[in-house]
Amino acid sequence: MSISRRQVLLIGGLGVLGAGGAMLPTGSVEAKSASRISSQEMPRPFQADFVQAPILQPRTTGTDPQDGSPVNYYTLTEMAAMTNILPRLRTPILGYNGIFPGPTISLDQGTKAVLRIRNKLPAVHALDGHALSTSTHLHGSASRPQYDGYASDITNPGFYKDYHYPNFQPARTLWYHDHGVHFTALNAYSGLAAQYHMHDPMERELLPQGRFDVALTVSDAMFAADGSLGYDDNTHSGLWGDVILVNGKPWPVMKVQKRVYRFRVLNCSISRSLRPALSTADPVVVVGTDGGLVPVAQTVADWRHGGAERYEVLIDFRKYKTGQRIELRNLSNKNNVDYDFTSKIMAFDVTDEPVDTSDPTWNRIPTTLTTSEAMSLRTGQSVATRKFRVMRNDSTGMWTINDDSWQDVIASAYKKVCAEPALNSVEIWEIENKSGGWFHPVHIHLVDFQILSRNGKASFAYERGPKDVVYVGEGETVRLLMKFTPHKGLYMMHCHNLPHEDHDMMVQFRVGLKENDVDVDDPMTAARAVWDDGPE
Ligand code: C2O
Ligand code: CU
Repeated sequence: MSISRRQVLLIGGLGVLGAGGAMLPTGSVEAKSASRISSQEMPRPFQADFVQAPILQPRTTGTDPQDGSPVNYYTLTEMAAMTNILPRLRTPILGYNGIFPGPTISLDQGTKAVLRIRNKLPAVHALDGHALSTSTHLHGSASRPQYDGYASDITNPGFYKDYHYPNFQPARTLWYHDHGVHFTALNAYSGLAAQYHMHDPMERELLPQGRFDVALTVSDAMFAADGSLGYDDNTHSGLWGDVILVNGKPWPVMKVQKRVYRFRVLNCSISRSLRPALSTADPVVVVGTDGGLVPVAQTVADWRHGGAERYEVLIDFRKYKTGQRIELRNLSNKNNVDYDFTSKIMAFDVTDEPVDTSDPTWNRIPTTLTTSEAMSLRTGQSVATRKFRVMRNDSTGMWTINDDSWQDVIASAYKKVCAEPALNSVEIWEIENKSGGWFHPVHIHLVDFQILSRNGKASFAYERGPKDVVYVGEGETVRLLMKFTPHKGLYMMHCHNLPHEDHDMMVQFRVGLKENDVDVDDPMTAARAVWDDGPE
């Protein structure tokens, strides 16, 4: 393993939680692993079977009295549970319904959802003793502010909150995860994350469905000697685990037929970015980004994939031989910390299982898909250009956006904003990362945006689709074009390296309202959590 300059710095700057979890050996740069488990207990690549999270069934269905649309009512319980991630040792997690990743929600555009999140977590987190108050964000949904997982709109243990999701947007891969103020990183890392798939007729027509439409939730982890999750965020710089999980299993192997598969790749790591590529050097075809289908499919050999970004890719297994193993590798990116096996993600074993050729997606690689509101925007529509700098404050060590933080928002009684775009207006937001030492995946709530440029040049081929997270790499400036629609109110923008977000790289903007206007969707007051006296 090569030890980078960054890793030497990181080993010198252990986070306070390191002592409670997995600690890198101090004074040494010969670290072979972040985990502290013995080598017999350590998982190895390609030993585990690939699994997918179960699909969540609605508790009941109904009709919206206002507009007659169908509504699915779901319940999820946040709880502590034990899981089998390692070959022998058991690992305690916090999970939606006690599993990681949590159950996948799958529904059609036009079907609304009411998701009841019951907080049945212990009062405090076992690693650092922080209160387990949560806020649930459906990442990728234009939800109203009081249902958007506003970080400070917390649900305490013993309470539940009903989140209303409109699901009017085009088909896309969304995900739901904890967003609890200042503890999002440890809560999400402990297991509070899952996928949510919205379908529509166009996407059903063009892309593989059912068992050929495969969720890949990729994350990294480190383990303490007893098999529990270790946590070390290197003084809030980031956590780099030495074990890569796909759907909660280390480097799993999936059996595949000789046909085209669709993978919904979510990087659910709290800090690590990926650069996935196939071991055959064959390209993949990117058909979707965060906000759904791309206008034109893009054939790429690999792609840079930051935390919270979603890429939907087609992999064509038709030409491979029965018994052939194809690895999905990770070429990594600047300023990650890599270990012996973080260069691998999972593997596919090709089988001779008969292919159903009556399914037209078995061999279909679309070239043109569909445009979207975000991708149809033109720069001439923009009425304002705003500039943001993502940076670390040298004197406080805090991560900030234009030197502002969520603490400033709290101190202002949730009034302080970084922008006040008008409802339905189009703007250009420019985000600059001057640093050479850090990358920041920046997420803007509510909107889908188009990436206009990076350092004045065209965006990467694979990110030419609707996005809600942009990888702002070292020394990069990105220009984004977006429309603030359809809701008024307060929305967050933050870094999705979650230790950065928590310390304290998060700000908010206000759509369609001024500071002293009445806000019926005030996220701190409009839809409070309620005491949960239902059965366990
Ligand atoms: Cu995926 Cu504000 O987060
Ligand atoms: Cu960051």
